[in-house]
Amino acid sequence: MDSGTPMSSDNPDILFNKKLFNPLFFNVKDDMANTDLRYLILRGGSSAGKTVAVVQNIILSMLESGDNTIVFRKYSSDIQDSIFSDFRWFITENNLSNYFVIQQHKVICTLNNSFVRFRGLDDPEKVKGISGFRRVVLEEATQLTYNDFKQIRKKLRGKEGQQIILIFNPISEEHWIKKKLLDNEQWTNLYLGDRDRRLNSEFAFKKQNKGKNITYYKVTYRDNYFVVGHPDGIHGYIDQHTIDDFEYDRVHDEMMYLVYANGEWGMFSSGNEFYWAFNKLKIVKKQTYDPDKTLHISIDENVLPYLPLTIWQMNCHGNRHTVRAIDELCMEPPMNSLSHLATAFKKSYPNHRGAVIIYGDATSMKRDVKIEQGYNLFKLLDDKIRDIYKTKLRVPPKNPNPMVRGMYMNEIFSGYRDTHVEIDPKCKNLIADYRYTKENEDGAKLKQRIKSDLGDYTYEPYGHTSDTGDYFICEAFKKDYYKFATSNRTHKRVSIATGQKLHY
Ligand SMILES: Nc1ncnc2c1ncn2[C@@H]1O[C@H](COP(=O)(O)OP(=O)(O)OP(=O)(O)O)[C@@H](O)[C@H]1O
Ligand SMILES: [Mg+2]
Repeated sequence: MDSGTPMSSDNPDILFNKKLFNPLFFNVKDDMANTDLRYLILRGGSSAGKTVAVVQNIILSMLESGDNTIVFRKYSSDIQDSIFSDFRWFITENNLSNYFVIQQHKVICTLNNSFVRFRGLDDPEKVKGISGFRRVVLEEATQLTYNDFKQIRKKLRGKEGQQIILIFNPISEEHWIKKKLLDNEQWTNLYLGDRDRRLNSEFAFKKQNKGKNITYYKVTYRDNYFVVGHPDGIHGYIDQHTIDDFEYDRVHDEMMYLVYANGEWGMFSSGNEFYWAFNKLKIVKKQTYDPDKTLHISIDENVLPYLPLTIWQMNCHGNRHTVRAIDELCMEPPMNSLSHLATAFKKSYPNHRGAVIIYGDATSMKRDVKIEQGYNLFKLLDDKIRDIYKTKLRVPPKNPNPMVRGMYMNEIFSGYRDTHVEIDPKCKNLIADYRYTKENEDGAKLKQRIKSDLGDYTYEPYGHTSDTGDYFICEAFKKDYYKFATSNRTHKRVSIATGQKLHY
């Protein structure tokens, strides 16, 4: 074997060439040696080298420290041709067969009898007796239930430095891994590493929780030198088939691309998305703010989960307009009041020289009993900001029909009208809204209420920021909107996979 880097003082004759490893391997190696870390979370697209990085580290830890590991998959039938075969591959490929015995569901290191055991969670023995292991690896962890995880967490106790490693593709942002494990922590970004440890800064991240017992990675195929080639141009491998597959998805299947190429949280289409033509890859782009151009701001009278204001600018070339969502201010409790919103807006745009036009939900024009006589939401907002801006209200007497305005927005998103929408990536709620708002039986937005974790109340998670977008666009382009609303021609929703019409 090539001489070069790590690994063991007990076995000085086993030296590995650094070029056998991806940056993730070196990062995980540090984490596995850190006994303060209880969880290692490896989220990523496919072919990102997650499994191989863990397999290589476990093999090295067996040689070096005699650690025992148990690898769980949901189904025992999946073990043989998955992570288990990666162990066999690394051992044989690197002439380590003299140091390991490979059995059906176990790999044993003959130097010190340390071992890795493979088990399905459908095995009757399940998680019994795992307390003696140093590490538990949960491969394809999204297949496991939250209950499986809780059992494992509870049973892996009693030894110093015991670790749970979760490896998964982020298939759904509703998954318990996100909702129960990740969203409950406060995360700080960690440095992406130097040289051998350097992860791709555009798509990868490395984070640590406040309690400093979890490291959380996001990686993609761009971090795998055995797909994209080593940066030295000599080592690694360029796997053109894999790259071509990702490229195919980029063009044909947005959600597949986001999840499996980019490691983003997915929400696979249920077929009843309200904004079915919204394509994040085409519409979400970095925007620049121009202090001399008009700011179009649109508000929805809603306070939970936040009081939303979206902030837009426009570029006009003849009849063609690009409306650009440059920012959003979604004021969460306890900051979800008009005063806080106005303050935040002024703070974000202190030197604005263009006009500010206010849009929003027409029903908020009616006097609200909570508000003084003669006042409405827009007037109140106007009062709070017009000391420093030239303002104007543009709220129609009546809102556009909820179903028709959805159809209109889909026409725009499909590129059939002269108006074109772009959204800055920082408008996270607006983007999520366009992606996840569902349609109800009546063709309008489905406003489903969910129970809050924070208090004893329910709220509608989606539909508010996109409402602000609808109000703004339908009002700013009202001539075109009414032309659309009164014509009988609408483009239909077409499934890319089948070419079949899905809607209307
Ligand atoms: N260090 C390495 N040396 C050689 N080949 C590697 C290495 N790391 C990854 N590969 C190659 O890249 C492929 C993908 O890596 P791996 O299976 O670890 O990705 P993954 O992130 O676990 O993907 P998935 O989410 O699809 O399971 C491997 O099957 C292997 O061919
Ligand atoms: Mg894998």
